[in-house]
Amino acid sequence: MRTAVFSARPYDRRFLEEATQRADAAWPVEFLYFDATLDVHTAALAQDCEAVCVFVNDRLDAPVLQALHALGVRAILLRCAGFNNVDLAMAGQLGFFVARVPAYSPEAVAEHALALVMTLNRHTHRAYNRVREGNFMLDGLLGRTLYGTTVGIVGTGKIGLATGRIFKGMGCTVLGHDPYPSSAFDAIGAYVALDDLLARADIVSLHCPLTPDTHHLINTTSLARMKPGAMLVNTSRGGLVDTHAVIGALKARHLGHLAIDVYEQESALFFQDRSGEIIDDDAFQRLMTFPNVLVTGHQGFFTVEALQEISEITLRNLGDFAAGRPCANAVPLP
Ligand code: NAI
Repeated sequence: MRTAVFSARPYDRRFLEEATQRADAAWPVEFLYFDATLDVHTAALAQDCEAVCVFVNDRLDAPVLQALHALGVRAILLRCAGFNNVDLAMAGQLGFFVARVPAYSPEAVAEHALALVMTLNRHTHRAYNRVREGNFMLDGLLGRTLYGTTVGIVGTGKIGLATGRIFKGMGCTVLGHDPYPSSAFDAIGAYVALDDLLARADIVSLHCPLTPDTHHLINTTSLARMKPGAMLVNTSRGGLVDTHAVIGALKARHLGHLAIDVYEQESALFFQDRSGEIIDDDAFQRLMTFPNVLVTGHQGFFTVEALQEISEITLRNLGDFAAGRPCANAVPLP
C-alpha cells in the first residue's frame, strides 16, 4: 500500500518507520515522505499512491480531493484528531475512506496548556534570559498564585478533562462549558453557561473543536465578557479566536495575558523555519510585540508517547482500509 506522507518532518518518518517495524504488517506498506504541505500544487506528489497521510495544515478542499481522486488515491489518513481541514461533503461524494487519530495522549496537550500558563504567569521565559545575562532583578516578573483562582474549560472532552484535572489538583476552582456534559468532568468541576464562565474565570482555556458553530467563539463580544486582566489560553484550533479582536482587547489592557499554541493563519508559518525571512502576517507580528503574549508553534501534541500513539493508530487505520474492515476511527462522511 503506497502512501504519500505530506508535511513529513524527520520525527514523522522516525515514528512511522518504528511503528511499521513493530506492527509486522501482513500487507506491504510503503511510505513516501514529502516535506511539502498538501495543497492543489503538491497533490501530484501522490501519483501511484492509494493513500495519503496528512497533518493539521494540509489542505483537503474540493479541488485537492478531486486531484487526489483522479490520481487513484482512495484513503486519507489524518495524523491528528481534528478534521476541519477536510471537505467532508466532497470526500463522501468521491467515496474516500477518511480516518483520524481521535485520541493520543490528551495529557500531552493538557500539560502543554499548563506549561503556557505557568510560563506566562511566572515569566520564566524572561527570567531565563535575564539570569543568563547576569541580571537578577525581579521587577517585571511578578505573577499570581494559581491556588484559589478560577479556571474555565471550554470543551470538556478528553483534553479539556485532563486540563481540568491538572488545575483541580493545583487547588483551582474549575468551571466547564460543553453542550455535552460528562460525569467525569462533573466530578472535578461545575458546568456553567459560557457567558458565566467567561465572567468568572481568571484563566479561560479552549478545548473544543473548530466547527462552523465555534469559529471565532472568542470575539469582541465574548472578550468583553471576560474578567479584566484574565488569561486566555488556546491549544485547540486557531479559528476559535478572532485574532484582531484579541489584539484590540490586549491594546485596551482588558485581556491580561494570551497564550496560544495554535493560530488562525498558522498554515503559512508553523512547522517551518522562517527565521531568515520577513514575515508578512501583520496580525501575527503585532501579537509578537506584546510582553503578555506567548506563542508556541502547535507543539501541544509533541511528546514521544503521543507520536508513538499517532503512528500506531495511523498504521492500524491503514490496515483496516487495506483489509476492507470497518474502522473504529473512520470519520463519518455525509
Ligand atoms: P474531544 O472530542 O474529546 O472533546 C471536544 C469537546 O468539545 C467535546 O466534549 C464536545 O462536546 C465539546 N464541544 C463541541 N462544541 C462545543 C462548544 N460550542 N462549546 C464548548 N464545547 C464544545 O476532543 P479532544 O481530544 O479533547 O480535542 C480537543 C481539540 O484539541 C481538538 O478538536 C483539536 O482541535 C485540539 N488538539 C490540539 C492539539 C495540539 O497539539 N495543540 C493536539 C490534539 C488536539
